Amino acid sequence: MSETKVNNKTEKDYSKYFQTTFQPPSLKEARRRRKKTVQFLNDFSIPEDIKGIGKDKKFLIRTYGCQMNEHDTEVMAGILSEIGYTATDREEDADIILLNTCAIRENAENKVFGEIGHLKNLKRENPNLILGVCGCMAQEESVVNRILEKHQHMDLIFGTHNIHRLPQLLKEALFSKEMVMEVWSKEGDVVENLPRMRKGNIRAWVNIMYGCDKFCTYCIVPYTRGKERSRHPKEIIDEVRELARQGYKEITLLGQNVNAYGKDLESVENYGLGDLMDEIRKIDIPRVRFTTSHPRDFDDHLVEVLGKGGNLVEHIHLPVQSGNSDMLKIMGRKYTRERYLELFYKIKEAVPNASFTTDIIVGFPNETDEQFEDTMSLVRECQFDGAYTFIYSPREGTPAARMEDNIPMSVKKERLQRLNELVNELAAKSNAKLKDQVVEVLVEGTSKKNPKVLSGHTRTNKVVNFRGPKSLIGELVNVRVTEAKTWTLDGEFVEKAGVSVK
Ligand code: SAH
Ligand code: SF4
Ligand code: F3S
Repeated sequence: MSETKVNNKTEKDYSKYFQTTFQPPSLKEARRRRKKTVQFLNDFSIPEDIKGIGKDKKFLIRTYGCQMNEHDTEVMAGILSEIGYTATDREEDADIILLNTCAIRENAENKVFGEIGHLKNLKRENPNLILGVCGCMAQEESVVNRILEKHQHMDLIFGTHNIHRLPQLLKEALFSKEMVMEVWSKEGDVVENLPRMRKGNIRAWVNIMYGCDKFCTYCIVPYTRGKERSRHPKEIIDEVRELARQGYKEITLLGQNVNAYGKDLESVENYGLGDLMDEIRKIDIPRVRFTTSHPRDFDDHLVEVLGKGGNLVEHIHLPVQSGNSDMLKIMGRKYTRERYLELFYKIKEAVPNASFTTDIIVGFPNETDEQFEDTMSLVRECQFDGAYTFIYSPREGTPAARMEDNIPMSVKKERLQRLNELVNELAAKSNAKLKDQVVEVLVEGTSKKNPKVLSGHTRTNKVVNFRGPKSLIGELVNVRVTEAKTWTLDGEFVEKAGVSVK
């Protein structure tokens, strides 16, 4: 049996390929932070023999998870279109389908496995279809093993550090009969000149750093995304300038822990997110956002720069996770309830109209009723404008997964429900304050529910729906709020807004 396989491979010269690219992931390896400095590369190019392999073919990428993944999808779409593919949103028309996956919680993974199962039928009907799994789940050994064992219809698995290798991997998948896999557990280099096919021409994501070194005890991200690597300020600023030149109205600076920006850079000393934002503030682009902040690294300089306003909008996403200091300690968050509140009030003072949103986990191992009440009281105190709330989900390989997941599901659900009721109540209250006020809205498109209604966000990141001509799409307009709902505002068009950039 094995002989046939070897012969088969040798005939097609797969042996060489397997020596170089067959790399399964290892969470243990991924945990190691290496001293080796990150390489900044500018040499991405499509090899001659790959150019055009996608001619007359179509691709579809399904994206799960966070903004980082959304943006990685834009890069992969850029690469695929450079080799000739065009985008489709119909599975039946696709020649390649990639699942860009998220590993953050078990239910995120279950969704993907459901989809992998469903794709089997498509593959049966169209054996030439290439099916791939990439993103954070591809970095997990257990996931890759499960695909290898149970989902042989998949053709391609590659990790978050291997995106720039998509052309070569895809070529292998097209010509090989074996499943092609390349997942580097060691973090990748920073490749600067990757193509991007951005979704839309109004708002854009801009990576400022990759990876995360925080190792919160529950979280898989430091394993799936590798160590913190900041891009050079010049590269980021050039990208933002180019987006401004192309007419984009809003950018969001992206990283898992943007406040750690610059710490790892050797080329500039003492240069942090505050310095970067202070430079971006001067670029002629109407709105600048950033996500996600970690309270621990949010320094005074950044607070001061945010206070300057202008194109730096008044919305801070500041995940707290828990309102109890003992819980925060075992979560490895490296701040206390008091420190979080101190920072919260400091930002509030510098940016008086700021809206605040947060992330919260309920049912972490050993969380008592009293400790959960501390979370409730913190949420009440901060009066968040919105919160993403989650039931704790053990992630294999993380320190928390070794603790007993001892809070019964019924208790977790009850806590989540109580928390959500409070979050909704506060969101409705904060929206109600805007009734009859005129707010600035970036018109992003038509409402999902009603194509006659335009929809966009305020600077504080609230959704506003109002009637107006489609020609307003892409414009900044003033809208009077006529009705405040829990999660959205209805309004009427007043006038086009003047763009103020300091
Ligand atoms: N880098 C960001 C968050 C990234 S993940 C930060 O540090 O704030 C987004 C959110 O998912 C987290 O803020 C956390 O609330 C939640 N999350 C992460 N791991 C989780 C887990 N194992 N179970 C439940 N929720 C989790
Ligand atoms: Fe995960 Fe913590 Fe890093 Fe956020 S800061 S990505 S929660 S380890
Ligand atoms: Fe999910 Fe990976 Fe983002 S685990 S939340 S897609 S970094």
